[in-house]
Amino acid sequence: MPKTRTEFVCRECGYRTPRALGRCPECDTWSSLDAVSSQPAAVAARPANGIAARPVRLSDIDAVELARLPVAAAEFARVLGGGIVPGSLVLIGGDPGVGKSTLLTQLAHDIASTHGAALYVSGEESLAQSALRARRMGLAADNLLFLSETDVDSIVGAIRESSARLAVIDSIQSVTTADVEALPGSVSQLRESAQRFMHLAKSTGTSIILVGHVTKDGAIAGPKVLEHMVDTVLYLEGERFNQYRLLRSTKNRFGPTHEVGVFEMRDHGLTEVANPSSVFLSERDAASPGSVVTVTMEGTRALLVEVQALASRTTLAIPRRTANGFDSNRLHLIGAVLARRLGIPLHDQDIYLNVAGGMRIDEPAIDLAAALAIVSSVRDHPMPSETVAVGEVGLSGELRSVGYLEPRLRAASQLGFVRAVVPRSAGQPRELGGIALIPAATLREAVRALQL
Ligand code: TYD
Ligand code: MG
Repeated sequence: MPKTRTEFVCRECGYRTPRALGRCPECDTWSSLDAVSSQPAAVAARPANGIAARPVRLSDIDAVELARLPVAAAEFARVLGGGIVPGSLVLIGGDPGVGKSTLLTQLAHDIASTHGAALYVSGEESLAQSALRARRMGLAADNLLFLSETDVDSIVGAIRESSARLAVIDSIQSVTTADVEALPGSVSQLRESAQRFMHLAKSTGTSIILVGHVTKDGAIAGPKVLEHMVDTVLYLEGERFNQYRLLRSTKNRFGPTHEVGVFEMRDHGLTEVANPSSVFLSERDAASPGSVVTVTMEGTRALLVEVQALASRTTLAIPRRTANGFDSNRLHLIGAVLARRLGIPLHDQDIYLNVAGGMRIDEPAIDLAAALAIVSSVRDHPMPSETVAVGEVGLSGELRSVGYLEPRLRAASQLGFVRAVVPRSAGQPRELGGIALIPAATLREAVRALQL
């Protein structure tokens, strides 16, 4: 039996030390070290028979295709990379009220109606509350089990006993183990609980999904301690006043990352949105100035989004620059390029830029659309109809090429767009992805070609 030892773990950054310190040497937070008594995992894992570990040649390893539990919701399956891998540990984060419990109750029900037992463990809600939600969504699979419990060891026991294919722990912050002397939600509790669920998942083949609350700085469970322990990290996002929810993967050991699935919150739970582009564009008024459609890549999916700009004469000494769903530094940069390279007077204009539909876009390929939307609003000229704009804007006003141009344009063509303003490049065809190209080397050329 290895000796139990006491370690101190920083609540903020997860730093470990054998000494009791008043201040964490890693992140400089005071009084953030919790005492943890644990058997070091490395000791426990050492083979008892004393045989040395033996490396294996690549060609001698049977690479079995990962079996996955199919997930009925195609949007969810896409984000996971095709389905749930048995024995995987998944962390899903999101703001309170965004719909994590709703989404996972539906997933558990899916699995329970097709593959065997699924166990939904709530440490925050009573059985009655969980059942109320499931009823509201019209779910009634016999194999869908609920447990209201916060003790990790009892939960582990229940999962083993139920031989569930899937277990959901809602939330990882609400469960604790008595072996760790720290408050629920502290790093040492999170780490220890997650580790136990990981061992359980790997040893039984049960897939386990941990729900993690996002703290105000945006990370799951405050410190990022859990993210590197789990196989997959998903985030459920959505604007508070809008019914759409985006599910993204930021880490996935079994599939691509940055995939996005789109859902809509309805009375009976979350429903999939199979063609998000048409939803994002459904309320667009194509004839109004300041509206430009672009195509953004989210993982392997091309999404059409509307970028809106509104320029209005300012009453302030320093005009306002407000961006929604768009990096405000890039808005400043584009404003400067428009003023300096195209001579468009913006010093007396407030500029509001908005990505419609609650999307947040961080890729530079949206620059051209943002710049054109501003010009279109300042001059009060609408964009020519059925035209999309894709490209990055450089500091000298040049347009820079972006990746995945063809899939982007194909997606635009499917929604009825016929022309695309794109950065000029050598040997460029006249048409790409079913769309006529309007090549422009600079922002100035693009504005002229569109007669804005
Ligand atoms: P919930 O899944 O409890 O959020 P989370 O677990 O992320 O905190 O969802 C909360 C919101 O969703 C709540 O405001 C009610 C709404 N909702 C619906 O609109 N329709 C539904 O069918 C359900 C179950 C919830
Ligand atoms: Mg919840």
